[in-house]
Amino acid sequence: MKLKLIVILIFLIQHNNNAEEISKGRQIAENICSVCHGVNGQANTAGNSVLVPHLTAQNEQYLIEKLKHYKDKTLEHHQMSLIADMLTLEDIKEVAKWYSSIKITVQEIE
Ligand code: HEC
Repeated sequence: MKLKLIVILIFLIQHNNNAEEISKGRQIAENICSVCHGVNGQANTAGNSVLVPHLTAQNEQYLIEKLKHYKDKTLEHHQMSLIADMLTLEDIKEVAKWYSSIKITVQEIE
């Protein structure tokens, strides 16, 4: 009886953790990218640049290709090449999934 209760408790704790799990891509965005691009991809002017692009809802494949190019130095940029160097291919895919998954709505201009 006691054992059954413990098993149920463990299940509940694990279940709860899953519900609150933050995706790896979002974690990378929070820890590394947010200073310049924001967690939600809305860039601010940090990182000594007034030219930080928004990443919100950007095409996933586009983000992956750009990050791969910064990493392999096909594209060289004093900030992004350093950042991309820190990322594994898996990190790149995860963070691209996060930024591309954010939904935006566009309003008609009247
Ligand atoms: C120190 C500031 C800074 C940080 C931190 C940073 N970026 Fe950037 N990012 C920039 C700047 C500046 C550019 C514009 C570079 C250029 O003109 O080529 C850029 C460009 C990009 C682009 C190309 C966007 C486009 O529209 O072509 C992608 C993708 C990108 N960053 C992803 C990331 C990701 C993912 C992270 C976190 C892992 C990150 N960046 C962290 C400053 C930053």
